[in-house]
Amino acid sequence: PNNPTGMMYSEAELKAIGEVCLKHHLMIISDEIYEKLTYTDRPHVSIAQLSDELKQQTIVINGVSKSHAMTGWRIGYACGDSKIIKAMTNYASHSTSNPTTISQYGALAAYQANDDEIELMKKSFKDRLEQAYEMLNKLPGFKCIKPQGAFYLFPNVTEALKLTGFNNVDDFAAAILEKEKVAIIPGSGFGAPNNVRLSYATDLDQLLEAIKRIERFLLNNQK
Ligand SMILES: Cc1ncc(COP(=O)(O)O)c(C=O)c1O
Repeated sequence: PNNPTGMMYSEAELKAIGEVCLKHHLMIISDEIYEKLTYTDRPHVSIAQLSDELKQQTIVINGVSKSHAMTGWRIGYACGDSKIIKAMTNYASHSTSNPTTISQYGALAAYQANDDEIELMKKSFKDRLEQAYEMLNKLPGFKCIKPQGAFYLFPNVTEALKLTGFNNVDDFAAAILEKEKVAIIPGSGFGAPNNVRLSYATDLDQLLEAIKRIERFLLNNQK
C-alpha cells in the first residue's frame, strides 16, 4: 500500500514494472512498510517474490513502525543482495550508528509474537476506513477513491477549493487547521496539488469529530 493514496499495485502491474527494470538493469527499492495493513481480499505481493531475477535486483524495505505501531522505536530493515546490504550496514554504522538496544529487543519481541494484535489493529483500521470514507465522500466538493491499505484517505478537493474560494490546497489546509484545529496534509508535497491527506491512525471518535469539523468549515466558508 502506498502513502499517501493507500492504493496497491496488482501482481500484473508489478510484473510489468519488473520487466522494465530488468530490461534496463534498474535496481528496485520496494518500500513495503504497510504490508500488513490491507483491507481487501487481495494479498500483499512483493515484487521480489515474482522471479529470482527480480529478487536479485530488489531491496525490500520494511520495519515495525506501521505493522506494530512502533514508529518512535526507529527500527526498520532492508533485505537484499548480501554485498549491498553489507555496504549499507557499514555506511549506517559510520553515519547514524545503531538503534538502541531497547528498541532492538522490542522489535525482536514484536516479530516473535503471533499476528493476533496486528489483526485486531487492522480490524480497527478497517472500521475507521469504512466510516470515514463514507462521511468524507458526502462532504461538499470532496471526492475520494477507496484506499486498499495503509491508513490514509486522499480525497480530491478541487470542487471544495472552488466552493470556498481558496487558490490552493496549502491555504485550504492551513485555514482548516486555524479555524477548526484539524490537521490535514496538503497533497502538494506529494505532487498532488488537488488532494489532501487525512490519516485514520487515531481513534474513531476523534476521526468522526474531525470530519464533522471539516464539514462545518466547508459550510461556514462558502464563497
Ligand atoms: C511509505 C513509508 N515508508 C516508510 C515509513 C516508515 O518510516 P519510519 O520507520 O521512519 O517511521 C513510512 C511512515 O510514514 C511511510 O509512509
